[in-house]
Amino acid sequence: MTHDLQRERTLVLIKPDAVKRGLIGEVISRIERVGLKIVGMQMTKPTVEHFNKHYPGSDDFLRIIGGKTLETYKKFEMDPAKEMGTDDPLAIGRQVRGWLMDFMTSGPIVKMAVEGLHAVSTVRKIVGSTMPEQAAPGTIRGDFSADSSSLANAKKRSVKNLIHASGTLEEAVQEVNLWFLSNELFPFERADEEILF
Ligand code: PPS
Repeated sequence: MTHDLQRERTLVLIKPDAVKRGLIGEVISRIERVGLKIVGMQMTKPTVEHFNKHYPGSDDFLRIIGGKTLETYKKFEMDPAKEMGTDDPLAIGRQVRGWLMDFMTSGPIVKMAVEGLHAVSTVRKIVGSTMPEQAAPGTIRGDFSADSSSLANAKKRSVKNLIHASGTLEEAVQEVNLWFLSNELFPFERADEEILF
């Protein structure tokens, strides 16, 4: 089956910091104004068990988040061993994942299934880089935060980066399936699709 570019789907989570800051509408309007459609949406407060499926405890995932943290320490010429008690990316990843779990379960979130042309890459572009301090102006993370992993780690907490968005097409398919049942998705045609495409 060929991939239907205009019906690509991705998962967006509006994280507890963005909900508490009253940014739900801002996020929704940025997704809609680029021509994408929200085909599933709900406010929810998922359990740790659910987030264990979303953020796997695998070495690969831990190495990614540990590695990102190490990069930031290097950039600011800080010593990871002094700050975190270790410079092993896996051990750092494990600590950071624990903080991420605490953060994601600290309040309600809004889950969205977003559909449309190049939905995965377009949403990632709108959302910006993982660390708000590095995210470009004009992106959600760049416009609404300057948080960094160096501050977050010093405070022993997750980076508050407002949004989660699936990273790849493969991840998007898995994540939409994890967060939505098929009868919770409502595909429709936007009135401007004829003009846009
Ligand atoms: S991303 O944004 O999906 O590309 O991020 P990725 O590197 O794949 O996954 C890392 C997730 O961990 C969250 N997080 C942190 N990463 C690194 N360092 C620190 N200190 C940290 N704190 C939290 C990061 O936001 C990613 O989660 P999501 O939900 O994908 O944004």
